[in-house]
Amino acid sequence: MRSLLVTGGAGFIGTNFVYLWRREHPEDRLVNLDLLTYAGNLENLTELPDGDGYTFVRGDITDEALLDRLFAEHRFTHVVNFAAESHVDRSITGPKIFVHTNIIGTQSLLDAARKHGVERFLQVSTDEVYGTLGKTGKFTEATPLEPNSPYSSSKAGADMLVRAYGHTFDLPVVTTRCSNNYGPYQFPEKLIPLMITRALADEPLPVYGDGMQIRDWLHVSDHCRAIEQVLLRGRTGEVYNIGGNNEHPNIDIVQRVLSHLGKPDSLIRYVTDRPGHDRRYAIDATRMKDELGWEPAYTFEQGLPETIDWYLANRTWWERILSGAYSSYYADQYGGREVISGASAAN
Ligand code: NAD
Ligand code: TYD
Repeated sequence: MRSLLVTGGAGFIGTNFVYLWRREHPEDRLVNLDLLTYAGNLENLTELPDGDGYTFVRGDITDEALLDRLFAEHRFTHVVNFAAESHVDRSITGPKIFVHTNIIGTQSLLDAARKHGVERFLQVSTDEVYGTLGKTGKFTEATPLEPNSPYSSSKAGADMLVRAYGHTFDLPVVTTRCSNNYGPYQFPEKLIPLMITRALADEPLPVYGDGMQIRDWLHVSDHCRAIEQVLLRGRTGEVYNIGGNNEHPNIDIVQRVLSHLGKPDSLIRYVTDRPGHDRRYAIDATRMKDELGWEPAYTFEQGLPETIDWYLANRTWWERILSGAYSSYYADQYGGREVISGASAAN
């Protein structure tokens, strides 16, 4: 039986991963440590089946005393670190919290894992650490790191620490670098849910620059299956690129969303480009296929309409986020309880 620490399990990908793990490995124990920043939402996890072995802890990955207590109590065998500040635009307006959470947070987790011993430490990273591509080529695991935004440079810093703890202290680390995820529970300030929710309200859709920036879109359930495989069977010390074989320019995505919802293209507004905007990302995921037999199952033709329909069917979920009502859910949930952390939620 494994004892997992999943950090950031109330965010978009972490939520999907917690559901997958509880479904596929119900015998394992799982602690979900999440600070519940603006991006964390406990309402994501209300469908989790009741049962032993799942514990939610509200707390900060930079809180060393809390980590020490949790590692001692739960004797984690596996750590999966999703917790991060994750939005490039927010990193441009306020980089400091990115350095704090993504670098100091990862280092604090690595120290706790080293002190207490774990079988595996999996760092969830991003293809954005590789920088940007021209019209051709793909990122492989050997591509040099050339991060361009405060977000991606903080993730690259964390990756380097993970590598160093593996090299210097023999910590059994492994790193995954994935492309842009989409699917259920994505916070509605990222491209796809932002466009869906704004189009439904007949609000203008802000497309940065010429809209011809390309991302390789990966369905979150494919990503979570990939992480599962790397956690269980990946080679210690390695990096695994995870991609969707699914490159599209942003404007193409916005038009597909509009067409699925029966809304007019006249909602599109080209706005000032993001400073330092990376032009193209594409992933070569050959290692995932050759070593672990993983390939994405979703096509965009299936995944995008399904995702749009999920947002249509779960309107209350995102309307409560947009209205801020979900923060009062935390007050109800935690009002009379101990918050197991020295830090406060950054809003
Ligand atoms: P998200 O922003 O939706 O969720 C992040 C979660 O981390 C939230 O629940 C938040 O409350 C929590 N968190 C933030 N600071 C914390 C702290 N100090 N202590 C504990 N919890 C904290 O992000 P996501 O999209 O689910 O991304 C998860 C991971 O995957 C991140 O590490 C991100 O860099 C990486 N990633 C995401 C994508 C993507 O397309 N979403 C692509 C590549 C890599
Ligand atoms: P985003 O979802 O923020 O992910 P990332 O920057 O990590 O790739 O953005 C995806 C792409 O969509 C990116 O090229 C920026 C672009 N974009 C817009 O054109 N308009 C928007 O309002 C947002 C949020 C993103």
